[in-house]
Amino acid sequence: MNGMDLNRLGVAIVLSVAVLAGCYGVAWALLPDTAPPRPAFSVSGSHAAPIQQLLAQADASRGETVVEQVCGGCHALRPGMGDSVGPLLYGVFGRPVASAPDYAYSPALKRHAGTTWTAQALSDWLSAPDRFAPGTRMSFPGIADAGQRADIIAFLQTLRETPQP
Ligand code: HEC
Repeated sequence: MNGMDLNRLGVAIVLSVAVLAGCYGVAWALLPDTAPPRPAFSVSGSHAAPIQQLLAQADASRGETVVEQVCGGCHALRPGMGDSVGPLLYGVFGRPVASAPDYAYSPALKRHAGTTWTAQALSDWLSAPDRFAPGTRMSFPGIADAGQRADIIAFLQTLRETPQP
């Protein structure tokens, strides 16, 4: 490398730094680093209303409409129907997680096998599937509204021979 090359290298480095600094400045001006007015989702736990409480006011028929519109594209709901993109949801309430016999679950969901689909588990899952089971194949952003999740869960509870109270 001769002096000329070194000079070019120096100029290149100085220019790169200048361009990066410029980008940073422009980005900062366009997108000031402020907290969003409302968090995009809330982490379940301390301040999330326990789903049991919301279930008391839930409406299974409202839940049915949502499930048919939102989940029906990927899940069959009626007894005897097979798995679809996702596993059959008939009987899912109270069923062990990832236990439909012929369905090939992702390793992400299988990590929860051995636990049960209780109302709370379903609520956590449906609020943000990818947070509940990072890497899950259920590509669904989640239902942010806890009241709507309660409606859905109330409907899922009816998908069995002897509906749960
Ligand atoms: C884009 C397709 C898609 C949509 C929409 C979808 N799901 Fe799923 N669902 C899946 C897939 C795929 C899986 C399996 C996930 C895995 O193995 O990681 C799954 C798994 C599940 C499970 C776990 C079942 C078990 O046997 O353990 C439940 C419960 C569930 N979905 C409920 C719902 C509900 C309720 C909705 C609507 C609010 C919904 N899903 C919307 C594709 C979908």
